[in-house]
Amino acid sequence: MKDAGGTFRPIWMDHQADVVKVIDQRALPHEQVVMELNSVDQVIFAIREMVVRGAPLIGVTGAYGIFIALKNDKYNGEQTYIKNEAEKIINARPTAVNLSWGVNRTLGAVLSEQDPARRLDAARRVAGEIAEEEVDNSKKIGQHGVKLIEEIARKKSGKPVNILTHCNAGSLACIEYGTATAPIYAAWEMGIDVHVWVDETRPLNQGARLTAWELGKYGVPHTVIADNAGGHLMQHNMVDMVIVGTDRSTYTGDVANKIGTYLKALAAKDNNIPFYVALPSSTFDWTIRDGVADIPIEVRDPDEMRYIPGAVKSRDNLLMPEKSPAANYAFDVTPARLVTAFITERGVCAASESEVKRLFPGKV
Ligand code: MRU
Repeated sequence: MKDAGGTFRPIWMDHQADVVKVIDQRALPHEQVVMELNSVDQVIFAIREMVVRGAPLIGVTGAYGIFIALKNDKYNGEQTYIKNEAEKIINARPTAVNLSWGVNRTLGAVLSEQDPARRLDAARRVAGEIAEEEVDNSKKIGQHGVKLIEEIARKKSGKPVNILTHCNAGSLACIEYGTATAPIYAAWEMGIDVHVWVDETRPLNQGARLTAWELGKYGVPHTVIADNAGGHLMQHNMVDMVIVGTDRSTYTGDVANKIGTYLKALAAKDNNIPFYVALPSSTFDWTIRDGVADIPIEVRDPDEMRYIPGAVKSRDNLLMPEKSPAANYAFDVTPARLVTAFITERGVCAASESEVKRLFPGKV
């Protein structure tokens, strides 16, 4: 057994101080900086500026945001105050549905209590429950997904299984284990020989900075590649499967994930390579049928593309002509027809309305 995954949390409650703490992911991989979240403005800043990021983690942070709002409540339990704060948190980022899901679930529990102290307790408790559920979901995604890796490993008789992933759907995005990384960590723990191609994931380099850091920490063999290298590797039989995460999935099987995911799915289809999406049910949007038409796509500050991320905005760090306009679309939608299967906490299923409804009855 090799030690991989399952021990790392990017958000936690410091119970002694009754304070929420997070790892500032902007500083990784070079520094591990801890930040306290003490106000709703700080929560919004952390989500918007990607101190915390990744759909499940955003959901948990939003849920703790309700707890933080109640701690700072100067209006003595006035309902409009907490509802407004919830709305502000939800608006911090548009694509990951986990954010509104986590906030609204916590808000619902809070509003069912009258007493301010009980409201605070409810928020702390529900946010903690959501975090634990995501840990559990990730563990189960690992258990279901590892069978797909095992199957390929058997056919390759001893040669490493090459898995390509995009962005970071790992421990940093999901509390523990991750989603896309959970089957990989499970395979590694079982002693299956795996190797991960890590898309660098421009412009903020979540793959190069975060996924590579995580895999390296757990000793999983990996190689960082330029975002556009995947197609070439697929053409040369250097990729056995693709596993990615998602920020919002329709019950019909469409998935929104970090920009560039769609192009990987197209290349995988052209090369007959299975393309899996690992997701906890918290990333389903049960109200949307057509992902391309209806999933809101975040457009971020073009300066994230213009300058080397994390560097001073000086001419030396400017990557393009000063006057060239840039457009920073942060997500794209991969239609269900390009997805081989979903790996969920309830098992593996086709990315189709009937299969999703079968695994999650009563949701639509
Ligand atoms: O902009 P980010 O870094 O928050 O985008 C994250 C992703 O695209 C992840 O792949 C997604 O949230 C799935 S995490 C399980």
